[in-house]
Amino acid sequence: MANLLERGFWTKLKKPIIGLSPMDGVTDAAFRFVTDTYGHPAILFTEFTSVEGIVHGAGKLLSAFIHHKTATPTVAQVFGADPNGFYQVAFIVAELGFEGIDINMGCPDRSVAKKGGGAGLILQPKVAQEIVKKTRQGVEDWTNGKNIEEVKLPENIVAWVKQFGQSPIPRKILPISLKTRIGYDHIVTESWIKNLLEAAPVNISLHGRTLKQMYTGKADWEEIGKAAALCQATGTTLLGNGDVKSIADAKEKIRTYNLDGVLIGRASFGNPWVFTGVEADYKKRLLVALEHCEALEKLIPDQPFITMRKHLAWYCRGFVGATAVRQKLVLVKNTEEVRQIIFPILHATSEVAAGD
Ligand SMILES: Cc1cc2nc3c(=O)[nH]c(=O)nc-3n(C[C@H](O)[C@H](O)[C@H](O)COP(=O)(O)O)c2cc1C
Repeated sequence: MANLLERGFWTKLKKPIIGLSPMDGVTDAAFRFVTDTYGHPAILFTEFTSVEGIVHGAGKLLSAFIHHKTATPTVAQVFGADPNGFYQVAFIVAELGFEGIDINMGCPDRSVAKKGGGAGLILQPKVAQEIVKKTRQGVEDWTNGKNIEEVKLPENIVAWVKQFGQSPIPRKILPISLKTRIGYDHIVTESWIKNLLEAAPVNISLHGRTLKQMYTGKADWEEIGKAAALCQATGTTLLGNGDVKSIADAKEKIRTYNLDGVLIGRASFGNPWVFTGVEADYKKRLLVALEHCEALEKLIPDQPFITMRKHLAWYCRGFVGATAVRQKLVLVKNTEEVRQIIFPILHATSEVAAGD
C-alpha cells in the first residue's frame, strides 16, 4: 500500500479530482499554461516522453519537460520498456521540479507498444511492476541525496537538466502514478489492476478502452467502476478516463462509478473552459488563442510554430465566417500573422455569433 509520504501532493487534492489528461503533440507547456489559467484543472500532465530516447541522449525530447510556473501540480509522463532507464529518468524528473512522475502503460501506438512500452506492458505484468519498483528506487535514491551525475546519463542530458532544473530543489519524495487501459486485445481489467496494485502506485488513471480499440467505440465505464472498487481502501486512487465531454458529465461519472476523479482529454481542445462549466464566447476564445501563441513563443521558442495550427483551428468556431478564418489560421507561421487575422474579427461591430 502506498504510504502517506509517497502520496506527496495527491494527499492535498480536493476530491473529486478533475485533471487534464496527457496528450502527445497537444499538452505541451503552452497548452498547459492556457488550460491552467482558464480551466484550473486539479492536475496537469506533460506529453509522454521516451525513457529509452532520453537515456540514449536524445536531448530534443526534453522539451516536453519544460513547464510554466504554477501552483497546480504538474506531473511528467514517461514511457518505455526497460526498468533500468526509469531509474535514471526519475532523477531528471525530480531535478526539474515536477510534483510527480507518471508511467504510461496505455499508449496504443505501434512504435511504442510493439517494443513493450505503453499498452505493451499489459502483456508483461511483471515488467510493469518492475518498472514501478525501479522508478521508486530512483526517486528514493534522489531524495536520499544521490546526484544526477552519478546515474550514468549522457552529458548533454545532464547539462540540459542543470540549465532548466530548479535550484536548490527540496529533496522531497516524488509520488509515482500510472496511466493505462482496460486490456490489450481483450478486457482484463480486474487481473491487470490487481497486478498494478501490488506495485502500489499512488494513482491509476484508467482509459476505458483496450489497445485494440485505439480510440474507436465507447469507453467502457462499467470496467472503470470495477477498477475503482478494487482500488478502494488500498491507498491508490483511481481516475476514470474516456469520452468525458463536460464538467457535468465528469461529475455524473464520478458519482455513478464511485471514482476519485476523472481526466479530460479531447474535450479540452480549444476549450480550456471545459473544466469550469462556463462556455466562452467566440471573442474570448480567439483572444485566448492569441495568448496561447504568445505562450508558445515564450515558453517553448524552439518548437515549430506550425504545431500551433491545429489549436487555432480548434479555437476558431461559433461565428459567421469561422470556416474561412480557420482556413487562413491553418497556414500561419507566427503570432503576428495570427494577430492580423484575429484583430479585425475582435473589433468588428456587427453581431456575428452562432455561425459555422
Ligand atoms: C492526440 C492524443 C495524444 C495522446 N497522447 C497521450 C500521451 O502522451 N499519454 C497518455 O497517457 N495518453 C495519451 N493520449 C490518451 C489520452 O490521454 C486519453 O486517455 C484519451 O484521449 C481518452 O480520453 P478523452 O476521451 O477524454 O480524450 C492521447 C490522446 C490523444 C487524442
